[in-house]
Amino acid sequence: MEIVITESYEEMSKRAAQEVANLLNTKPNAVLGLATGSTPLGLYRELIRMHKEEGLDFSQVITFNLDEYVGLPKEHPQSYHYFMNENLFKHINIPPQNIHIPSGTTSNYKAFCQWYEDRIRQCGGIDLQILGIGADGHIAFNEPTSSLGSRTRIKTLAQQTIKDNARFFDRPEDVPRYAITMGVGTILEARKIILLANGKGKSDAVAAAIEGPVTSMCTASALQLHPNVMFILDREAASKLKMIEYYEWIQANLPGAPKS
Ligand code: GLP
Repeated sequence: MEIVITESYEEMSKRAAQEVANLLNTKPNAVLGLATGSTPLGLYRELIRMHKEEGLDFSQVITFNLDEYVGLPKEHPQSYHYFMNENLFKHINIPPQNIHIPSGTTSNYKAFCQWYEDRIRQCGGIDLQILGIGADGHIAFNEPTSSLGSRTRIKTLAQQTIKDNARFFDRPEDVPRYAITMGVGTILEARKIILLANGKGKSDAVAAAIEGPVTSMCTASALQLHPNVMFILDREAASKLKMIEYYEWIQANLPGAPKS
């Protein structure tokens, strides 16, 4: 695991955008796994800036989003379809047919989930998966006790997540109870994974994910099993890491480390 500690949300976002840009510069038809939530907004803003000012090209990029609420149509302002379009897709030159987001309104969820898994494989697998983290340590909507081998499926949201999401809806009863989400097993097949986290509210989840045991009680801890994971954190999100001095020492000495 590579742990990068940054001084601000902007620095975290720019560091992540640089990783995406490096990938697209070497592989213009890369497959990106994308996340929603407030955390990756700065990353998306920076990618839009790079597209507009530096010509970062998305014309061959393929994307797969992690999740979507069950029951929300694409046009609903709280749907992840709407979020992705408003905050990234409509500002860059990605062809609409290259965008994949789980459907929250399909008539056959089981068949749809299988199709989504097959489609990721047909496209060659995900080169770079961007993740946020829930306050309870979830990735995508893989709530505590989700199988670490799980695949794309319907998941009942945890009470904590429903509570966290309530601020986005007018009435508590409007908050979706179910989501369709890539599984932990699906996520672990990405070639590279970058998890972003900022703010004090994420510090317990980040510490559990990086330094706790691998457990389905914190599905982000499954990332410890992945050979190519980078955590990009701000100082608050990193504040409960016991080995923080070690990570910072590595970061400071990285250019001097032996190259393989
Ligand atoms: C939701 C999403 C996750 C995201 C999490 C944190 O649960 N399904 O993918 O990581 O929210 O959201 P935020 O970045 O707003 O804290």
